[in-house]
Order: sequence, then structure tokens, then C-alpha cells
Amino acid sequence: MSAAHDVDVTVNGRAYRRRVEPRLLLHDFLRHELGLTGTHAGCEHGVCGACTITLDGDSVRACLTFAVQADGARIETVEGLGTPEALSPLQEAFREFHALQCGFCTPGMLMTCVDLIRKYPLASDAEIREGLSGNLCRCTGYEHIVRAVRAAVARQRETTP
Ligand code: FES
Ligand code: FES
Repeated sequence: MSAAHDVDVTVNGRAYRRRVEPRLLLHDFLRHELGLTGTHAGCEHGVCGACTITLDGDSVRACLTFAVQADGARIETVEGLGTPEALSPLQEAFREFHALQCGFCTPGMLMTCVDLIRKYPLASDAEIREGLSGNLCRCTGYEHIVRAVRAAVARQRETTP
């Protein structure tokens, strides 16, 4: 067994410290050490996008990242977006446009969108589709997800001076 390391992270604005083995993956760290089970583990080899979070502002696969690599980082997970009573605008658009069915892919979809919306204009459906092309959904056929993102982007444009 390898020596344990202290990992200090800020997740959704809250600071955490845990002592973990170097082999621990970041999605397991979030789910099992911090109890933040919104981040899902699907394929666990970087293909499906269900585990997507942001790490220092960039969307990353938590299944391809060791927890020790996140030491000192600022992480955002789906738990930081909104609550059932007060959904974030993006979550509200997903609800309104039926952009989820089983919901397994949804946390990763949302966190990928958070990063995309911050960085890119997403002026066309083609851009939205390209941005989400690394996230797999087995239920929706994607059309509703694209509509939701389109609506969220349009609303943000209306409200941002
Ligand atoms: S669980 Fe990480 S990409 Fe599928
Ligand atoms: S809503 Fe079921 S996998 Fe996307």
C-alpha cells in the first residue's frame, strides 16, 4: 500500500481536507470521502462524461484524475449549481425542455455546459453539439438537451448587459 497524502480542496466554496491513498480517483473522493454523490461514475475510463466536474475553472473527467492531483484546487460539482427549490437557470432550462430522463448523464452534462457557457458564445446548435460531444446520454436523443442549452444561452444573453 502506498503512503497516504493530505488533499486540500475547495468544493462549491467549502474547504475540505482528507488523507487519501494516491490511487484514489477524484470521483470516488467526491462521492465517498465528501459524500457528494451528484458526480456520477459511468464508464470510468474517460468516455461517457458522467463524472464531469470543473477543476480550477476547466471541465475535467473526475474518473481520469487522481484526488491527489486536485490538491489545492477549486472544484465545482453539480451540488453547487442550485437546489430542488431554487434551480440554477441552466437546471431550470433542462427541466423545462425535458433534457433528462433517467438523469444519470445530467450532472456531467450540466457541468460541461457550465464550462462551455462561460467560455464560448455557443451561437449555433452546431457549437452546442460539438461542445457536448464528449458527453453520452442513452435516453434523450440529445435534441432536448440542445434545446435546453440554446434556451439557457439565449436567456443569459438577454440578462447580461
Ligand atoms: S465516468 Fe468518467 S468519463 Fe465516464
Ligand atoms: S437522461 Fe438517461 S443517460 Fe441521459
